[in-house]
Order: sequence, then C-alpha cells, then structure tokens
Amino acid sequence: MSNTENLLEFLKSRRSIRKFKPQSPPRDLVLKAIDVARFAPSARNSQPWRFIIVEDTEIKSKLASIHIYASPLKNAPLAVVVVCHVDESPTSYMLDCANATIYFLLAVHALGLGAVWIQTLRNIEEIRSILGIPENVIPVAIIALGYPDESPSPKPRKPLEEVVFMNKYGVRL
Ligand SMILES: Cc1cc2nc3c(=O)[nH]c(=O)nc-3n(C[C@H](O)[C@H](O)[C@H](O)COP(=O)(O)O)c2cc1C
Repeated sequence: MSNTENLLEFLKSRRSIRKFKPQSPPRDLVLKAIDVARFAPSARNSQPWRFIIVEDTEIKSKLASIHIYASPLKNAPLAVVVVCHVDESPTSYMLDCANATIYFLLAVHALGLGAVWIQTLRNIEEIRSILGIPENVIPVAIIALGYPDESPSPKPRKPLEEVVFMNKYGVRL
C-alpha cells in the first residue's frame, strides 16, 4: 500500500474503545496527544479549548455515573475532559472544541491507545460541579482513555452515494 493509502486506512481504522487494560498510560503520552489536538482548526484561530486530565479515581468515578453511557469511564484508567471557553469563540465554540476532540482521538489512535467520546451536553451543570468548571466554560467531551483491551469490528457506515449530493441538496451522484 502507498503511504497515502496507509494514512487513509489509519483514519478509517479508529474505533471507539470501551474496555481498557488496568495500567495507566504515562502522562507524557497523554500530553503528546493533547499537543496534537492544539493543531485542530478553530474559527479565527481562537483555540477556545482546554483539557483536564483526570487521574483521580474518585473524580473519575463521579464522571462515570453522570449517565449510563458514561460507564466506560469505570474501567478506564484515565479521563481527559475537553472544555471550551464560550467567550473566546462565541459563534463556533462547540465546533472548535469538537475539532480538537477528534484531533485528540486520532492522535490517541496513532499512539496505540484507545478511547471513547462520552457525551456531556445533557449534564453540563453536573460536570461543572464535579470539576470546578466556571460558568463561561462548557464541557464538550469526556474522553475515556487507556490501553485497549478489545478490538471491536467497524460500526456500519452509510454508503457514500447516500451521503453525497451534486450541486444541490438531494441530487445524487
Ligand atoms: C458527540 C458524541 C457523543 C458520544 N457519546 C458516547 C457516550 O456517551 N458513550 C459511549 O459509549 N460512546 C459515545 N460516543 C461514541 C459513539 O457511539 C461512536 O463514535 C459511534 O458509535 C461510532 O463508532 P466508532 O467510534 O467505533 O466508529 C459518542 C460519540 C460522539 C461523537
């Protein structure tokens, strides 16, 4: 396979990982992935993101109980919470921080770690109170993180022809 094909295959091979080995990835590795996330695009290059690394097991277990789909945090040795300064990018903060989150997830994948994005948007106040996040800052994603202990098969994707239109909405390829 050519280098380009390898890179495209790498992008397609990311999976959400929900089962983790007990040992925690070293902090340097986590910082390496956050370092990459800083290179995500943002409106006016505002970079409204901040990253909270959660190593504390008590705080992590509080996050694990915000809703049932947060349960991967129970066996993840680490969490990284992506939070967003609304005032730094008032129109696009959610998009900017989602961009940083996916950059982080891809960097994690490149480093041989596993992760899953945990929904935050129905539990903003609860998460704010657990992590001491101020009013002008929104938690956009909690990432459960660790060494993968499963290799899930790919989730189905809508076919290309279903998601592409030509020139106007609804006109198929
Ligand atoms: C905004 C967002 C919220 C998500 N919330 C959760 C969640 O709370 N719990 C969970 O286990 N997975 C969550 N996921 C992961 C999705 O279920 C997963 O990305 C999707 O099923 C596709 O699988 P894949 O990531 O392996 O390709 C979330 C993903 C996104 C982008």
